[in-house]
Amino acid sequence: MSTAAPLASATPLLGSRCPAGLITRIRQAVAQHGSWPETAEAVGAQLRQHLPGPDILTAQERLGDPSRYQAHLLHVEPDGSFSVLALVWRPGQATTIHDHVAWGAFAVLQGTEHEETFALTPGQAALTPLATNQNNAGDVSAFAPPGDIHRITNRAGATVIQLHVYGTDVGRLGTSVRRVYDVPVLGTPA
Ligand SMILES: [Fe+2]
Repeated sequence: MSTAAPLASATPLLGSRCPAGLITRIRQAVAQHGSWPETAEAVGAQLRQHLPGPDILTAQERLGDPSRYQAHLLHVEPDGSFSVLALVWRPGQATTIHDHVAWGAFAVLQGTEHEETFALTPGQAALTPLATNQNNAGDVSAFAPPGDIHRITNRAGATVIQLHVYGTDVGRLGTSVRRVYDVPVLGTPA
């Protein structure tokens, strides 16, 4: 995932806010120079074993924002090969339907998130729903474009916090999103 939300960090990122051990293990996974799917899975495996708690964010950040979900940039690898963000969704908040510029892995740190995946129709004029996934605290997913169109929604009654790792410099790009899909979803009421 992703985020289409503007980065909430208003100040420049001066140093990593991630545990050094986790960054070392992500760095080792990326340094294997596998394919995007292989790298995403390798990073996801490290997240499963070394997942931090929601207190990787401050108490204020963990509250979220009533106006929209928040994205906090926690680490950018100096060579730009990966970035780590924490995202906070209050109940009812959602991403756009989007895909990504690079591979990614994400973990739920708190709460339960609802993910829908989609595929473009052959003419690319609409989307077909593919699957829905409900992910709970501790669950880790990995993806690699293409075929990574999705939307994340908080349909629960409590705030959701996720950790996302993307194979790009999100600090420089300002986003991990490649494209937002503002087209009809087949099977949904007009
Ligand atoms: Fe995404």
